[in-house]
Amino acid sequence: MSLRQRIDSREAKVGVIGLGYVGLPLAIEFAKAGFDVTGFDVDTGKVEAINAGRSYILDIADAEIAGPVGAGRLRATADMTRLGDMDAIDICVPTPLRKTKDPDMSYIVAAAEQIAKHLHSDMLVVLESTTYPGTTAEVLQPMFEATGRTVGVDFFLAFSPERVDPANAKYTTRNTPKVVGGTTPACSDVAAALYRSAVDTVVPVSSTQVAEMVKLLENTFRAVNIGLVNEIALMAHRMNIDVWEVIDAAKTKPFGFMPFYPGPGLGGHCIPVDPFYLSWKARQTGFECRFIELAGHINGSMPAFVVERIGEALNTKKQALNGSRVHLFGVAYKKNVSDMRESPALDVLELLHRRGAVLSYSDPYVPSLVHGEFRLKSVAEADVTAADCVVICTDHDAFNFASMLERFPLVVDTRNALKGFSAPNLFRL
Ligand SMILES: NC(=O)c1ccc[n+]([C@@H]2O[C@H](COP(=O)([O-])OP(=O)(O)OC[C@H]3O[C@@H](n4cnc5c(N)ncnc54)[C@H](O)[C@@H]3O)[C@@H](O)[C@H]2O)c1
Repeated sequence: MSLRQRIDSREAKVGVIGLGYVGLPLAIEFAKAGFDVTGFDVDTGKVEAINAGRSYILDIADAEIAGPVGAGRLRATADMTRLGDMDAIDICVPTPLRKTKDPDMSYIVAAAEQIAKHLHSDMLVVLESTTYPGTTAEVLQPMFEATGRTVGVDFFLAFSPERVDPANAKYTTRNTPKVVGGTTPACSDVAAALYRSAVDTVVPVSSTQVAEMVKLLENTFRAVNIGLVNEIALMAHRMNIDVWEVIDAAKTKPFGFMPFYPGPGLGGHCIPVDPFYLSWKARQTGFECRFIELAGHINGSMPAFVVERIGEALNTKKQALNGSRVHLFGVAYKKNVSDMRESPALDVLELLHRRGAVLSYSDPYVPSLVHGEFRLKSVAEADVTAADCVVICTDHDAFNFASMLERFPLVVDTRNALKGFSAPNLFRL
């Protein structure tokens, strides 16, 4: 039976390498679609949690794991030799930046080395990790073809970008359209068939390079537009205009405008990182990505602007940052998630620390925080009493924002969480 037939009949065994924010929901979706799914991760804590039916991701309830695990359709392992039993493998490992802002391909290469050892005929491998255009053709294909097999004939290779949006209740793995590009038409055909079984809409494109660049365009679009609106916020502040009111009015235009909002800076694993994968690759062709660099510069300056606003707020009380007690509400990179990766709150904390502020924070999703020399524990919102200034850094729904204006002498709001309020102790971004 061909792989295509085994996919159509759900007899194909599906492996997912990397069981994080992307890989775990995908593995669950394939199990729901009727496949026998094995998740592979080097983190044995995650492997044990899944096999015990326990979730470690906020958006995923224990039952969503316990169901398929109990039914024998999903399991996790750190034993990479079992990759040889798989018919289709999705790679969902991290793609961070090195300190130099160059792509760190070590996780993809490590996963591909394991697959190459166990590659067999008729196997499908799909890369989902966000990466620069050319990774699938220039990194993965040669590694797999070095085993003596030919892509599109003996095995199939494709790229399909993940679009998961943590904490988004409306769009999930199932109902978010999935772009798929294969190395050859046969590769595209098999990969699209696999995704059609688990995702409502599959969008085929002509190559792996196009699929890789689609993801980078999407995230660069966000990074650049956030950079633009952050610059408008800096400008509006100088002109004494409320940027939030401007955006609210502008977005009443029913066409040709899409609202983006200013904030304390970019966070998460994607938006601050992915555009630099593109600019790195473009530089190799002698092309300078000016928008990406400029947006990175403006977005990267936002934590310093937040600290400037905190300084201005304290100044109205004749207080200095040095020695003042500054309390942050929310440290996760966005509302209602626990993810701290690249969170701008860390930069804000660091800048405040350097200026001698006495720091504390509340975040119901982040019980403790270890970063550089910081070792802080979250304080319950109701227990925050002695603060000279509080800063709304992440607008988690769990916070009681309205009470903050009465409870604290100064409130700096970087998210417009106090929309509609006006008070002498309220300082917006
Ligand atoms: N988190 C998001 O919102 C999001 C959205 C779209 C795309 N992406 C992209 O998806 C990819 C994965 O992101 P994530 O957020 O799921 O990362 P993550 O850190 O949550 O998960 C990655 C997992 O891979 C495991 N891992 C690392 N090396 C491994 C190896 N050699 N073998 C097996 N397992 C290994 C890690 O232990 C971890 O559990 C990245 O390229 C990211 O840019 C992420």
